[in-house]
Amino acid sequence: MQDTCLREINYLRVSVTDRCNMRCVYCMPPQGVKHVSHEDILRNEEMARLVRAGSMAGIKKVRITGGEPLVRKGLVGLVESISLIPEIDDIALTTNGVLLPAAGKELKTAGLRRVNISLDTLDPELFRFITRKGNFKEVWRGIEVALELGLHPVKLNTVVMKGFNDGEIKDLAALTMKYPLHVRFIELMPVGASDSWTAGRHIPASEIRQSIELELGGLINAHRPCGNGPARYYRLPGSQGTIGFISAVSDHFCKNCNRLRLTAEGMIRPCLYSGKEIDARTPLRKGAGEAELAGLFRQAVSVKPERHDIDAGWQDEKRIMSQIGG
Ligand code: GTP
Ligand code: 5AD
Ligand code: SF4
Repeated sequence: MQDTCLREINYLRVSVTDRCNMRCVYCMPPQGVKHVSHEDILRNEEMARLVRAGSMAGIKKVRITGGEPLVRKGLVGLVESISLIPEIDDIALTTNGVLLPAAGKELKTAGLRRVNISLDTLDPELFRFITRKGNFKEVWRGIEVALELGLHPVKLNTVVMKGFNDGEIKDLAALTMKYPLHVRFIELMPVGASDSWTAGRHIPASEIRQSIELELGGLINAHRPCGNGPARYYRLPGSQGTIGFISAVSDHFCKNCNRLRLTAEGMIRPCLYSGKEIDARTPLRKGAGEAELAGLFRQAVSVKPERHDIDAGWQDEKRIMSQIGG
């Protein structure tokens, strides 16, 4: 599908649940969010039908997100249904990693190719603080399991926060020397419930890069590991993995945007930062056929904004980050 800015849109991020077993400080308020009721969440068959309709319109790559996708029941079956859609050639998952040791093998057998795992710190105490609930050891085990199962390329998502984990940038970057991991440093974005928390804690990607080069030496351009997202990749000489930067705030990548989002309630979202949504659930539940549903994906592409308006702040009253899936 081509949008009005001539961008090719072929990537769908599917949020399968708004629930999460963590409460990261930049993503959720401490009490969590009021969950969407079960009837309003799409069933697995409904999600698979919408992905199939999206594939008729031109979707080729699917990423499963949340909340935390692994807390959703029946995820293995959903991955299997998506992997049977002939047009879909990449199925990936973004997870906090906790449940990977339990679910990884079955997901791989069902057709999951690769995983991106959030990891903001290597310090167990700070990890507990940032995630409010998480246990570093469990997540590290999740990362090991992803490597053991060959869910390659295994990428880590590190959101950099001034005064919290900026002192660890070099240690996190150095993981790429020891392991075939792709460590991506993400600029903290002011989103939803986290607006007040994120203020003043943002560090631009250029500074993150400088601090790596100061401590570990110059970075060289790297081949892009398999993926469809906005990260730019470099590496340290002699490394096994790469170092990526996702500069959502300082250098927006909207001109290369290739994606749509589907929320767990069946709303197609043309842009992370815009509250605009197209309701696919109502027509789906009224019995719309595949061609009609595919038309909704084309409609979403036709109204996709040229770029986000991050400077104007988070405009969406309805959803926070965990309800969109990043
Ligand atoms: P691959 O490159 O395919 O491995 O995946 P990805 O980087 O697209 O996926 P992931 O879910 O790991 O996202 C990494 C970070 O990029 C998260 O912080 C997302 O919120 C952010 N991100 C992904 N898509 C967008 C987007 O369209 N706009 C903005 N501003 N940020 C995005
Ligand atoms: N800024 C940047 N990244 C964020 N994520 C969640 N909230 C934010 C934010 N405010 C990241 C998580 C996860 C990915 C899906 O989105 O760390 O890796
Ligand atoms: Fe959960 Fe991910 Fe949000 Fe943390 S960033 S609360 S792990 S959805």
